[in-house]
Amino acid sequence: MPHITEIEDLKRIYRRRVPRMFYDYCESGAWSEQTFRDNSTDFDLLRLRQRVAVDMAGRSTATQMIGEDVAMPVALAPVGLTGMQHADGEILAAKAAEKAGVPFTLSTLSICSIEDVAANTTKPFWFQVYTLKDTDFMERLFERARTAGCSAIVITLDLQVQGQRHKDIKNGLSAPPKLTPKSIANMMTKVPWGLEMLGTKRRSFGNVVGHAKGVSDPSSLSSWTAEAFDPSLDWARIAEFKRMWGGKVILKGILDAEDARRAVDVGADAIVVSNHGGRQLDGAISSIRALPEIVEAVGDQIEVHMDSGIRSGQDVLKAVALGAKGTFIGRSFIYGLGAMGQKGVETALEVIRKELDTTMALCGRKNIQDVDRDILLIDDDFYRWRRKG
Ligand SMILES: Cc1cc2nc3c(=O)[nH]c(=O)nc-3n(C[C@H](O)[C@H](O)[C@H](O)COP(=O)(O)O)c2cc1C
Repeated sequence: MPHITEIEDLKRIYRRRVPRMFYDYCESGAWSEQTFRDNSTDFDLLRLRQRVAVDMAGRSTATQMIGEDVAMPVALAPVGLTGMQHADGEILAAKAAEKAGVPFTLSTLSICSIEDVAANTTKPFWFQVYTLKDTDFMERLFERARTAGCSAIVITLDLQVQGQRHKDIKNGLSAPPKLTPKSIANMMTKVPWGLEMLGTKRRSFGNVVGHAKGVSDPSSLSSWTAEAFDPSLDWARIAEFKRMWGGKVILKGILDAEDARRAVDVGADAIVVSNHGGRQLDGAISSIRALPEIVEAVGDQIEVHMDSGIRSGQDVLKAVALGAKGTFIGRSFIYGLGAMGQKGVETALEVIRKELDTTMALCGRKNIQDVDRDILLIDDDFYRWRRKG
């Protein structure tokens, strides 16, 4: 068993274990990948104030996200095709989240279905919806999420049209993977992954195939997604989805204070400051840089969460210090899943929890709920990208 001391260790194993097509799908951003890179490196513009001789006994990272108790302010982000990174990936990640006491979010474009995840877990999870033109399908999706006991929906707003990732086109990304000489040659070097995949029936889009009109066979899915996403989505439609669901709603993909105010107006329970992990608008600012202005605009009216670029507990602490009540991790848990299944996700969460706890202590705080901007030293460059009127 290798020594796993940081998220990067899991990424190295993940890279060796999973077919190139799915590694590239995870580890890419849109176009030039500038925003993808900035999401992580901009955390370096925030440093931490070391404090000493403060009683550090009895620390706690526990808090709440949308009124639900969480062991730390970290949720698993919705990630499409998670079940291609490891057989039954969504079920395994949801189980790991449950064990660690943090929320799991299932993507619309998951491999395991809502029903599969519900049948294999005991705690309610969150369900992410893409806004699709087909209102009947949306209603059925909400109904299925209700029946499965989901405690919130996460509506993703930043994928009305799709950003381009060069590698996915070049690799011919699909689920199940298309068998070409190149993909076969690569998969032959990933035997354990392949054997586990052969051992499961879940190899296509579980929430969609057999449920959406015209998608009884998986090969028609790519044309379906291109046509199905609703490019005319607006705030009135978001309000309609909120009514249709009738429960808690988190709006994900907000990067601008004006949009954050609109989210308050439609009565959302929380927003996620996010640029989709740099996979959509290349050239957008990093989420961590967008966070303070949004917290200032709406932080007293709505719960503000954040994602994109988090690779450590220090990153989580910095986001919380800037006013995030919660964070989401995408790639950090996928590295763990691809590397070693459920155990890998548990390890990723434990690495982050330990880093968060120790860093918080060395900053002189013993309760995550008392962390504020006072623990940060902020580089002048952090506020560099501002609108000029
Ligand atoms: C491989 C991959 C697939 C994703 N699929 C979805 C998705 O289906 N729905 C969604 O709302 N966000 C999706 N996202 C975005 C994540 O929810 C999250 O915003 C992002 O991963 C955060 O950045 P991080 O990976 O740097 O933590 C995906 C991200 C990745 C890396």
